Amino acid sequence: MSNSPLFDPIELGPLSLKNRIVMAPMTRTFSPGNVPNDLNVAYYARRAENEVGLIITEGTTVGHKAANGYARVPFMHGEESLAGWKKVVDAVHAKGGKIAPQLWHVGSVRKEGIEPDTSVPGHSPSGLFKPGRENGVAMNQQDIDEVVEAFAQAAADAKAIGFDAVEVHGAHGYLIDQFFWQGTNQRDDSYGGDLVSRTKFAVEIVKAIRARVGADFPIIFRFSQWKQQDYDARLANSPEELKTFLTPLVEAGV
Ligand SMILES: Cc1cc2nc3c(=O)[nH]c(=O)nc-3n(C[C@H](O)[C@H](O)[C@H](O)COP(=O)(O)O)c2cc1C
Repeated sequence: MSNSPLFDPIELGPLSLKNRIVMAPMTRTFSPGNVPNDLNVAYYARRAENEVGLIITEGTTVGHKAANGYARVPFMHGEESLAGWKKVVDAVHAKGGKIAPQLWHVGSVRKEGIEPDTSVPGHSPSGLFKPGRENGVAMNQQDIDEVVEAFAQAAADAKAIGFDAVEVHGAHGYLIDQFFWQGTNQRDDSYGGDLVSRTKFAVEIVKAIRARVGADFPIIFRFSQWKQQDYDARLANSPEELKTFLTPLVEAGV
């Protein structure tokens, strides 16, 4: 085991990790009021203490009115939430760990009744939770611009409070993946259409983040073939298609 490269340090641009063990993001809903608290601090500090090379936090929502989908999820916006996250970051660093937040918008997974403003419906590319099932509203250009800005601001704030990188949640049938997936993206403007056109929203987000965090700060991007709405769904059906899909994201700054 000790000869495994898993335990060797690695440099990822400016990010030095003491090993290649990366903790997957896991929503814990431990944060009443959407503010990271002592329980969150202790939870992440324990992972750093026990030699996780890079911690990816639970999904933490960006500052858009419809970003959140669940109770007690910590936010990556607002003074109190950012101060809570800073305590997490400082505690992880004190144990010698590295940490990146997973920046999240749930899109049409959101239902009315969810905090912070319970009257706000889900926002998504075409107002669909999945093919044939409507939920919430289809985003107009202003909504799109606001969400892009919210991701950029969240990344800038994350960097400012000491996070070592950011991860964009583009997976599992949430907002960004709803743009990727033809099943939920039926737009006839430039954000819909073929696989490359369906990456446009994510590309705008990554470019906006890159413009705010500078050339060197690592931007991680999580995507998935499967959707919570359809485990058999596929974005790419061949390595060539996967390259077609990923190239614009890499060129944008992932
Ligand atoms: C409790 C729980 C919460 C999760 N929350 C998130 C999340 O916030 N963001 C995310 O991208 N994946 C989330 N996942 C998925 C995990 O990151 C991981 O992909 C999944 O557990 C599969 O890995 P495994 O086979 O090792 O369990 C969650 C998984 C669990 C078990």
